[in-house]
Amino acid sequence: MKNIVLIGFMGCGKSTTAKKLAKLTKKQVIDTDKEIEKRCNKSIKEIFAEFGEEYFRKLECDLRDELATKSDLIISCGGGFANLKDIKKMGFVVFLDLSFYKIAARLKNDTKRPLFDEKAKLLYDKRMPLYNNSCDIKLKITNFKAREIVKILEIFLGDISLNKARKNHIKPKISF
Ligand code: S3P
Repeated sequence: MKNIVLIGFMGCGKSTTAKKLAKLTKKQVIDTDKEIEKRCNKSIKEIFAEFGEEYFRKLECDLRDELATKSDLIISCGGGFANLKDIKKMGFVVFLDLSFYKIAARLKNDTKRPLFDEKAKLLYDKRMPLYNNSCDIKLKITNFKAREIVKILEIFLGDISLNKARKNHIKPKISF
């Protein structure tokens, strides 16, 4: 099976969805932030503070290239993963599209994300076209419920082969 790659802005629910999807499909889950933290033995916040964002993006690009050689994984990507370049080479890409308003509510007590600050809305607006251009399908989520997202993905991914979806550029917009 091609890897299934979840992208979207910080706090849109990629990690939770990936874990549930991995459980359902009995596949291994890779959370890119956790993988980088493990390899550096530092938190994302510490990596940003000590080495800067550019260094972090370089680690992401290396990880992207490494994951592109693997299959059968459910991959949850950090919100700006590898600057959203060449993501499709890692697998079938699903964009979880949640409004900024909902994200802000989910992250209101978050202290772990160095880029979720007063400029986050600007970053969100800048990133949206990149997510749209980098995905094979987009799930427009109005209320975050990981179990329902997984159910929809299960039906969608089971119904059509991932290769066929890619070839025909199927980009359903699913709202729930
Ligand atoms: C980032 C998102 C974070 C993490 C880092 C940078 C971003 O991941 O990779 O703080 O640039 O959007 P989540 O999307 O899991 O919060």
